[in-house]
Amino acid sequence: MAEEVTFRVFRGEPDDEGVPCGEMVDYTVALDEGMVVLDVIHRIQAEQAADLSCRWNCKAGKCGSCSAEVNGMPRLMCMTRMEDILEETPPGEPVVIKPMQTFPLVRDLVADVSWAYEIDQKITPISGPDEPDWKFHQQEADRMQEFRSCIECMLCVDTCHVLREHKLFEEFAGPRFFVRLANLEMHPLDTEDRLAKVKDDYGIGYCNITRCCTDVCPAGINITDNAIIPLKERVVTEYYDPLAWLARKLKLRK
Ligand code: SF4
Ligand code: SF4
Ligand code: FES
Repeated sequence: MAEEVTFRVFRGEPDDEGVPCGEMVDYTVALDEGMVVLDVIHRIQAEQAADLSCRWNCKAGKCGSCSAEVNGMPRLMCMTRMEDILEETPPGEPVVIKPMQTFPLVRDLVADVSWAYEIDQKITPISGPDEPDWKFHQQEADRMQEFRSCIECMLCVDTCHVLREHKLFEEFAGPRFFVRLANLEMHPLDTEDRLAKVKDDYGIGYCNITRCCTDVCPAGINITDNAIIPLKERVVTEYYDPLAWLARKLKLRK
């Protein structure tokens, strides 16, 4: 491993209109064996820039707070090994670190993800049956387990073009929340029907299954195949399948 590394880090704050204002600043620090990107950021803070802002908590890939863009890829800084980063960085070039670009900037590497908390609050939580002797099969538990391993890092949201480029924050819930909605919709005890909202309020139709969200998920959740596609199928069956439509009409007439 190289003895030193140069990080080119975004430093700045939003202006009065909320537009990020700042510059990329180079810091060269010594590297130790086994370091991750977050260690290098901490070394920069300790030795050269005590006022450099970044979020972190667990340093174990569990809290989802150290999300940033490393060499243009959304990643958890605490789980990104310097060994791998040096392999992908062209010789003589710095490692480029920016905050998540899809969200508004707070300062330096800190992004404002409060949009996510607002969406989260809008989703109707589980409403299950009251009887205590329900059955929950292992297969169902495994499916829930995948969805519940989400650490809310928002890297999937950061990479999704519907939000990153088209800024449809009002119309589209984003991949993290399709994972939550799929978890609720497939829950064996849940009795709530959220499909109308999945179609209209959460805009699942905007997703064109590019799978970029799945590619960056540090929890290994197969967001597209296991959450989004099954939700899309349910919406199609409910609203666009002519037989289901006819059955609904007959039921209403009765
Ligand atoms: S698969 Fe859908 S939700 Fe995921 S990044 Fe692509 S458009 Fe966004
Ligand atoms: S689904 Fe994956 S990428 Fe998205 S917030 Fe959860 S853990 Fe992060
Ligand atoms: S510090 Fe908790 S996920 Fe990185």
